[in-house]
Amino acid sequence: MEFMNLDEIDLSLSAPTEEPMRQYYYMALAKKKVAELSRQVGHTLTACVTTFGCQMNARDSEKLQGILKQVGYELVDHEEADFVIYNTCTVRENANNKVYGRLGYLHSQKDKNPHMMIALCGCMMQEPEVVEKLQESYRFVDLIFGTHNLYKFAELLCDSLDSDRMVIDIWKDTDLIVENLPVERKYAFKSGVNIMFGCNNFCSYCIVPYVRGRERSRKPQEILREIERLVADGVKEVMLLGQNVNSYGKNLDPQVSFAELLQEVDKIPGLERIRFMTSHPKDLSDELIAVMASSKKICHHMHLPLQTGSNRLLQEMNRHYTREHYLELVEKLRRAIPDIAITTDIIVGYPGETEEDFLDTMDVVEKVGYDSAFTFIYSKRTGTPAAKKEDQIPEDVVKDRFDRLLEVVRRDGQKRAESYTGSVQRVLIEQMNEQDEALVTGRMDNNSVVHLPGDASMIGTFVDVKLVECKGFYYIGQRV
Ligand code: SAH
Ligand code: SF4
Ligand code: F3S
Repeated sequence: MEFMNLDEIDLSLSAPTEEPMRQYYYMALAKKKVAELSRQVGHTLTACVTTFGCQMNARDSEKLQGILKQVGYELVDHEEADFVIYNTCTVRENANNKVYGRLGYLHSQKDKNPHMMIALCGCMMQEPEVVEKLQESYRFVDLIFGTHNLYKFAELLCDSLDSDRMVIDIWKDTDLIVENLPVERKYAFKSGVNIMFGCNNFCSYCIVPYVRGRERSRKPQEILREIERLVADGVKEVMLLGQNVNSYGKNLDPQVSFAELLQEVDKIPGLERIRFMTSHPKDLSDELIAVMASSKKICHHMHLPLQTGSNRLLQEMNRHYTREHYLELVEKLRRAIPDIAITTDIIVGYPGETEEDFLDTMDVVEKVGYDSAFTFIYSKRTGTPAAKKEDQIPEDVVKDRFDRLLEVVRRDGQKRAESYTGSVQRVLIEQMNEQDEALVTGRMDNNSVVHLPGDASMIGTFVDVKLVECKGFYYIGQRV
């Protein structure tokens, strides 16, 4: 998507102060610089963006790629590129470790390719200790920026191309939302769409509110216009993105609820499937359940993070719901939408978690019978209230609980999945199968994965598929 023709921008004038025009000016300038560099090195410069985090992180990568493509880079998906960008995540310790580990490899690449550029951005960069460490020990990194100023990438790229020193630009927070910048989608037929940024919930264990800033919602008109443009460009499925979509619109004037937004999205002609992520149980309204039940486009899938089934820990975590409330929500959802898939996130080993707390979690898990669950071992995040707690749980205890939980989650998921075997489902074909060239891979309305015989011409289309065999968490199907 291109919103302004870069060739029509007069670079003899100074950069405009208003956004997004300012960034288009810098895109035009970067395009000139990149073309010059390409001539010098004798090939079209390549760029690779690697995503480490969640769907929102992935959407940010698509925005970076949109700009890179506009300014003349050839996008590649391997890191032997002239420009490598790591879009980082810091939600758990191992997310950080992965980045440091791979930076070593990038350093060796850069030794072989002296004009190579390396940029780091995303959530990890919002932590001052991380930037300090990079400044001290990773001097070969060219550009560092954060989550709040990602829209300025073109401008930062120009700075970096002009400088032989590390360029760093990190903002603490922002209330800005810059619209209408280019985006390069990974899939032609589906797309994430941010509906809000940031998070105000401050769950006691979670770093996200500190690195993504305060909650701010995009205006409904902007969201609807973006989706209409996407549909005109071939998109059939959208995933509405926010850390807590159920509190969408609370800071807008006039206020708009998430359910109201969904009703408007539902009306967009040509759009076939609507997904959203993530729903916080504390704000899940009856109105939303009713809208989901009456819509033909909203997928029958609810990702509803539980975190723990212990009321005592839920309170300590600042989650603002009880196990009873959670179970009631599940019941309401299933009553209104009998075939809904319910998935969740669970943390094991929160500081002070007793065997009794853990059994409460197991109990909720057994009662709900999830279609699938992401289970995480608690990871201490410096700066969060939970990190100050003394009673961290020993590793062997956590590991034992984690394994017990995983077993129940597997068993229930498999049971739920098997119950669909033999049925015919509408599947959106997403890609060729990664292992077997004779198969394609797609997703059902409830987000389950199906592999079936097919070819590349089916990608991006809906087909009716009989689920012949359940392989635990996915199916082998046959087109009917
Ligand atoms: N906004 C979403 C979650 C985003 S983070 C929500 O509230 O549901 C995704 C998941 O990571 C969380 O649901 C939680 O289960 C997990 N998580 C977050 N912080 C964590 C930590 N410190 N240790 C382990 N898991 C964590
Ligand atoms: Fe983190 Fe809680 Fe916000 Fe989710 S709602 S991003 S878990 S603070
Ligand atoms: Fe990670 Fe940031 Fe997402 S910390 S989970 S990439 S919001």
